[in-house]
Amino acid sequence: MKTLRCRECGRIREFEPAYVCEDCFGPLEVAYDLAAVRHRISRASIASGPNTIWRYHELLPVPAGEPIDLGTGFTPLVQANNLGKALGLDHLYVKNDTLNPTGSFKDRNVAVATNFALSYGFDTLSCSSTGNLAGSVAAYAARAGLRGLVFIPAGLEPGKVGAAGAYGATIVEVDGTYDDVNRLCAELADQYRWAIVNVNLRPFYSEGSKTLAFEVVEQLGWRAPDHIVVPVAAGSLLAKTAKAFQELVGVGLLDQASTRIHAAQAEGCAPVSTAVRQGLDRITPVRANSIAKSLAIGNPADGRYAARAVRASDGWATACPEASVVGGMALLAETEGILSEPAGGVVVAGLRQLVDEGRVRRDETVVICITGSGLKTTELFEPLNGRRLRLAKARASEFVQALAEAEKTPVAVA
Ligand SMILES: Cc1ncc(COP(=O)(O)O)c(C=O)c1O
Ligand SMILES: [Zn+2]
Repeated sequence: MKTLRCRECGRIREFEPAYVCEDCFGPLEVAYDLAAVRHRISRASIASGPNTIWRYHELLPVPAGEPIDLGTGFTPLVQANNLGKALGLDHLYVKNDTLNPTGSFKDRNVAVATNFALSYGFDTLSCSSTGNLAGSVAAYAARAGLRGLVFIPAGLEPGKVGAAGAYGATIVEVDGTYDDVNRLCAELADQYRWAIVNVNLRPFYSEGSKTLAFEVVEQLGWRAPDHIVVPVAAGSLLAKTAKAFQELVGVGLLDQASTRIHAAQAEGCAPVSTAVRQGLDRITPVRANSIAKSLAIGNPADGRYAARAVRASDGWATACPEASVVGGMALLAETEGILSEPAGGVVVAGLRQLVDEGRVRRDETVVICITGSGLKTTELFEPLNGRRLRLAKARASEFVQALAEAEKTPVAVA
């Protein structure tokens, strides 16, 4: 029912822990016999499954049986009327993936990779990470009783590094960019039999990303949105969002894959958006320098496939100004009560661009993917403290005066 397929030459091979094609060195991905899965899956069978990603296990590359889990997935799809009003949209939804166990959508990928790693007898769970993946790998390693070993570039947000450490992983900080870290991990993957989830387990790891789109469709009542806005770093979430829609059509759970998929990046690191906007199939690597550190991948592994998926869906790509990212985070927080990290700010700023350019219409159904929690990046909210009162003495009269002063100036909304 499950095989591996080369994304370049299409050659099919046996399902096993492998990630590059022996013929053309192209990346492998998991392929399913959708006609066979069709007989095993239905809206009702999914609805009777757990409230986690495992309700879609028929379309995930994991062995049957009880998975090791932290409760990842089935996060809320929130109708965002306040934010919609601010942006001029009548049917806007936020997929709130900040509510995953370690605060980011990466738990979806790592849940799948961990169970795959366990079934093939790996003893070390590892990754190269821009921050969120490190926390997720560390947490799942703890849960699964595996050694956690995470590689990150120096200078990430302390909240992300601190969390990974709290789960007991060994953190390897490299003086260099994420792309340097990733190169090191590719070298190590040849030397050690470790589950470096986004390197040598990449075909399995990346399948976890499909579950976000599966959930969106189910939560909309088995309907696909007109638009989805996806933050892009390596491009895996976006490429797998397209694969998810296609597979739902393939197993008969969705009539049509007609959603326009939009890529959101920030100007300081926008190799995929640049390729889309310039109509190029090749991604030109950049030296990343962005406030959105989680998206700062200058040489994206799945960039080409992400750009193709955008184009095939008739979507578009945004590269928002760096200065608009924190404003996007603040707008989301102030209108919907959802605290995001910079990736969410990039998505909100990108959506604003799409609306301004007339690419998204008021009456259409739009989903934005808010993929990481702002609780790991609270330092970025410090300058936003529009109303922060400080009383020298705990006296009511002093408070009343301070409040009156503060309320003269409204809190700034981006
Ligand atoms: C919060 C957040 N959103 C989005 C992404 C982008 O995911 P991908 O690398 O699959 O493009 C990342 C990647 O690290 C992330 O941490
Ligand atoms: Zn090949």
